[in-house]
Amino acid sequence: MSKRILTGLKPTGELTLGNYIGAILPFIEMQKDFDDVFLFVADLHALTVYQDPKVLRDRIKRFVAMYVACGVDPEKTTIYIQSENEYIPAISWILECNTYYGEASRMIQFKEKSKGKENFSVGLLTYPVLMATDILFCDADYVPVGEDQKQHVELTRDIAERFNRLYGETFKIPIPYITERGTKIKDLKDPTKKMSKSEENPNGVISMYDDKNTIIKKIKGATTDSDMTIKFDEEKKPGISNLLNIASVISGKSIEELEKEFADKNYGEFKSYVGEVTANRLEEIQKKYNDIIASGELDRILDKGAEKTRKLAKEKFQTVKEKVGTIR
Ligand code: TYM
Repeated sequence: MSKRILTGLKPTGELTLGNYIGAILPFIEMQKDFDDVFLFVADLHALTVYQDPKVLRDRIKRFVAMYVACGVDPEKTTIYIQSENEYIPAISWILECNTYYGEASRMIQFKEKSKGKENFSVGLLTYPVLMATDILFCDADYVPVGEDQKQHVELTRDIAERFNRLYGETFKIPIPYITERGTKIKDLKDPTKKMSKSEENPNGVISMYDDKNTIIKKIKGATTDSDMTIKFDEEKKPGISNLLNIASVISGKSIEELEKEFADKNYGEFKSYVGEVTANRLEEIQKKYNDIIASGELDRILDKGAEKTRKLAKEKFQTVKEKVGTIR
């Protein structure tokens, strides 16, 4: 039986190397093995915090171009924009009514983002339910995400199981798919926290749009430790471990191979290597990105994606309405 995989990215900032390694690359790997694959721009999710409308509008399309430039095949993958599907928020409301406040408020991301703030949106709390809807409306089997999103996929499973118990079989229970390595790319300046699009200090974050010199400079400036050995140890050497993770995913070499190769080299030499391979990869991607933007293909891709996913979501919405009794 064919299995469906699905993932989404939120346009709250420019796509980062963390997104590329944690979500886009695993997705591309899976694209080869599965014949039913969905990838979308989670623009409704971005609205949980204020976004400049002009910037958001522009960024949504640029996200799609970047997916394709990274290797997502638009002939094989259904690519769409979340907000073009009006059935998703409609289903989400019904799922919100089947989610406990306690569950939602226990989400780590909610706790982190609301901490110390007096005024944050209700959407920040209900956001994982919208994410559950993204996954459940189309009966996705696997959801490739970085470690930080795993808890939300687990909540999705709980919501779906509860709904199925209460109203009868409606939703498929999804499985989070997390690759072993590279799923937690850390901030270069503070390697105890994740590399994030919304980070204010740009020196810790590699954007997918950074040019070669900037990338090399940022990696040169990455925080490391006072020890001299290039060894993987996330607790004691988070900075070096992060660079090993990045280098391993980009170069295709294992961490052990890299440790051996750099056994008698210093941090400067190692950083030059990581900077070089990363910058070369992003340079290739950026070339493709520019071609795609120039080709005018994006609207065709997105119209096709919207049509297909609206049909699926409409059917699921109808089923859910029947189950809960909100029909004439
Ligand atoms: P978002 O936009 O924060 O991140 C997109 C994807 O990138 C992964 N990621 C990382 N992986 C490794 N290292 C990092 N530093 C790093 N930063 C981000 C995230 O884990 C994620 O997989 N709520 C989601 C978007 C979403 C979604 C969905 C995902 C909405 N609906 C349904 C899957 C299925 C989000 O904010 O991801």
